[in-house]
Amino acid sequence: MGSFSPRLPLLLLLFSFFTLLVEVVTASEFKICAYNLERFDSAKASKPRVLHTVKRIVSRCDICLLQNVVDSGAIKRLLASLNRYDKYSYRSVSSESLGKSPADMQRYVFIYRMENVNVTGQHQYQKENAFVRQPFAVQFQSKKTAIKTFILVPLHSDPSQAVQEIDRLYDVFEEVSKKWNNTNVMFLGDFHASCAYMTRVNKKNIRLFNSSGFYWLIKDKVDTTVSSDTNCAFDRIVVHGIPFLRSIRPFSANVFNYVKGFKLPRSEAQKVSNNLPVEVNLKSSALLLQATPLLFLISVSAIARSFLSAL
Ligand SMILES: *[C@@H]1O[C@H](CO)[C@@H](O)[C@H](O)[C@H]1NC(C)=O
Ligand SMILES: *[C@@H]1O[C@H](CO)[C@@H](O)[C@H](O)[C@H]1NC(C)=O
Ligand SMILES: *[C@@H]1O[C@H](CO)[C@@H](O)[C@H](O)[C@H]1NC(C)=O
Repeated sequence: MGSFSPRLPLLLLLFSFFTLLVEVVTASEFKICAYNLERFDSAKASKPRVLHTVKRIVSRCDICLLQNVVDSGAIKRLLASLNRYDKYSYRSVSSESLGKSPADMQRYVFIYRMENVNVTGQHQYQKENAFVRQPFAVQFQSKKTAIKTFILVPLHSDPSQAVQEIDRLYDVFEEVSKKWNNTNVMFLGDFHASCAYMTRVNKKNIRLFNSSGFYWLIKDKVDTTVSSDTNCAFDRIVVHGIPFLRSIRPFSANVFNYVKGFKLPRSEAQKVSNNLPVEVNLKSSALLLQATPLLFLISVSAIARSFLSAL
């Protein structure tokens, strides 16, 4: 019996090796985020604390969709600050100003890490009267991800017609998947898909719910608001198709509660936005992952041998 104990260090070593492997693999994953920045303009971006918080949030993501960006000056400031702060080089791709009222024009802006992902196409949805802020679809390609090419479709819905706009994302899906011959589509943003704006009953009439093949990764019970008075899953991430679903790290989709994560006072966070970012990780294409079965076999046989020789 006592002859087992000399093997213990070996087992511990293998265990720590696996822990390290899991950490390396997780760290090399690819993060996609969506964040409604509530009227992010040059004036807001020139507040050092606000800019610092936004920079910390965006720098966690390989691609970050920002919504409710008012002017390009704000993005210039953010990019300059990000590129000074982080080892990656960040770039942006932006829609035109979208909206119905001149006092409330907004852009969708994707900020991405140049080293990790390329933009291979962009498409402004045009259909009249379908959305207040028509989705601006972007196709990305990355060598870092298990899925090679995918399309991101943003939506910051108008609260007064959230149900209709979420339903019409289906039409956008048909258009962009045909345009790029690619059904790996992710929808993301502040859909207002909760509380008074979208109820359980409404879901029956939303094609993103009632058709097969769409997976809602941020669930109804998640709270994507900063305020303690509200508990609503406004911000969502939805993917189309089994191949895309399989390329996502299970359970990685969630709200990023940076109020807790960065230990900020709630009031400080509310100066940035009343929405929290949501995010999801794509599995990596890393060699390590492909090598995992082999490493596993080697270690199992090592353990087996050590037990056999102990008998
Ligand atoms: C982006 O595209 C260029 C040119 O095709 C390629 O060399 C590079 O590896 C791509 N980057 C990534 C991260 O996929
Ligand atoms: C569309 O993609 C499928 C598989 O992804 C491929 O088999 C087909 O040839 C493509 N069609 C066109 C028109 O490129
Ligand atoms: C799904 O929703 C659409 C849009 O409201 C509706 O036209 C359609 O009849 C619904 N389908 C089912 C099966 O309920």
